[in-house]
Amino acid sequence: MVASRSRRSVLAVPGSNPRFIEKARGLPVDAFFLDLEDAVAPSEKEGARASVVAALNEGGWGGRVRAVRVNALDTEWTYRDVIAVAEGAGAHVDCLILPKVTGAEQVRWLDLLLTQIERASGLEPGRIGIEAQIEDARGLVNVDEIAAASPRLEALVYGPADFMASINMKSLVVGEQPPGYDVGDAYHYVLMRILMAARANGLQAIDGPYLQVRDADAFRRSAARSAALGFDGKWVLHPLQVDAANETYAPGQADYDHAERILDAYEHATTVQRRGAVMLGEEMLDEASRKMALVIAHKGRAAGL
Ligand code: GLV
Ligand code: MG
Repeated sequence: MVASRSRRSVLAVPGSNPRFIEKARGLPVDAFFLDLEDAVAPSEKEGARASVVAALNEGGWGGRVRAVRVNALDTEWTYRDVIAVAEGAGAHVDCLILPKVTGAEQVRWLDLLLTQIERASGLEPGRIGIEAQIEDARGLVNVDEIAAASPRLEALVYGPADFMASINMKSLVVGEQPPGYDVGDAYHYVLMRILMAARANGLQAIDGPYLQVRDADAFRRSAARSAALGFDGKWVLHPLQVDAANETYAPGQADYDHAERILDAYEHATTVQRRGAVMLGEEMLDEASRKMALVIAHKGRAAGL
């Protein structure tokens, strides 16, 4: 079973920008993260830590999943980020996002540090989850071990911008097909690799940002591809992207209704008729059909359809 917090839309909020933090409280996203990493200039890192802790403690986030993205482990900032956030707002943060994860030992490091902080601060053991960003070639090559590295893991998150840079992709538009590649989806392998590692370990798979923030149709097209494969959600950077993400990662009403009909028909078939295969209209249903319908039904119920 895949971790159950809803993450259709995951809003990226620079931790150093109080205006954006305030605005984020009003957006209908499933989840958000306050960023201490790439959206914060090096000179602002310390101040951002304090703003992020204050914003979490202030509350006003409703039922949204509350996360903080700390800096990557090839910087000098990570341990202080983790200590500041987990000690300062440990009861008000659901997950830490670790960016640029290249190996399982990095996730284990974060798990261990969180375990110590939870003990020292009297927090419930294991209450702070982890999301791991896969955003370079090494991370992708090691994604299976990364996905299995800690029971705190809730999601693998694709980082397209860093990933495109890491593999020397000949493109400047994040999330779009690289010019000249006209034989399919250049990201299919990457997305599937992340999705397989996530699902094999009961984790969610989250697609990364689309940077042409005013082009809502292009965002929808990009989101539709990973949603079709099975991804649970996508980062959003702008209010224009929020509804599109919430809609794209939920089933359509007709599919949801059909899924519930399949579940009812199959339940009736197995319990009343004592049959493992049954017809619903022109469609033959068996146990595998029930499982497929359950996926759509769960997503639809979570979306309030
Ligand atoms: C996100 O962190 C990205 O690199 O795309
Ligand atoms: Mg990145």
